[in-house]
Amino acid sequence: AKLPDVPAAPAGSLDELRDQARGCTRCDLYCHATQTVFGEGPPDARVMFVGEQPGDQEDLAGRPFVGPAGKVFDQVIGEVSIDRGSLYVTNAVKHFKYEPRGKRRIHQKPNMGEVRQCRWWLDLELASIKPKLVVAMGATALLALTKKKQRLEDVRGKPIALFEDRQLFVTVHPSYLLRIPDEVRQREERARFSEDMANVRRLI
Ligand code: URA
Repeated sequence: AKLPDVPAAPAGSLDELRDQARGCTRCDLYCHATQTVFGEGPPDARVMFVGEQPGDQEDLAGRPFVGPAGKVFDQVIGEVSIDRGSLYVTNAVKHFKYEPRGKRRIHQKPNMGEVRQCRWWLDLELASIKPKLVVAMGATALLALTKKKQRLEDVRGKPIALFEDRQLFVTVHPSYLLRIPDEVRQREERARFSEDMANVRRLI
């Protein structure tokens, strides 16, 4: 049966939503992932960060941004004095998508259908938390939050009105920094990400 793609206002608390999401079968990713990785943070957080999807370590731990990308994230927000404990941190897609390669599980990008199905949960998180500022990290989060395809560089680094009194701030995904082979460029891009986070800090 076709599932509805616009959720009603959340009927329960954030903890109840998290419980409901444990059994999610809206797309096929639940078949191979260990568990749903729901967002984490205070139910009244003023700022919500959105990544792409859990990685290998997040899938095992059941928590967002605890692996290598999470370490970069923690470091950079720490440098600009953003307290992670005050943030709600989540992902556009809540199951790990991967391709087995020997003993390793190689991350695969979620497709449009998976992003669309998982928007159900993202929309419920937004409706429940009502953050003043939403930070999209990477193209998948940008697509999920704006529901349209646009170039990240065109909208990066400046606050955009989402609706009512909610702002969207767009930056790169921290794992992008980890994939840059050239050290000089990696340092430059990390500095740009850090500058973005400093701007987020000013908006909080
Ligand atoms: N990358 C993401 O987008 N989210 C995580 O939780 C971890 C890595």
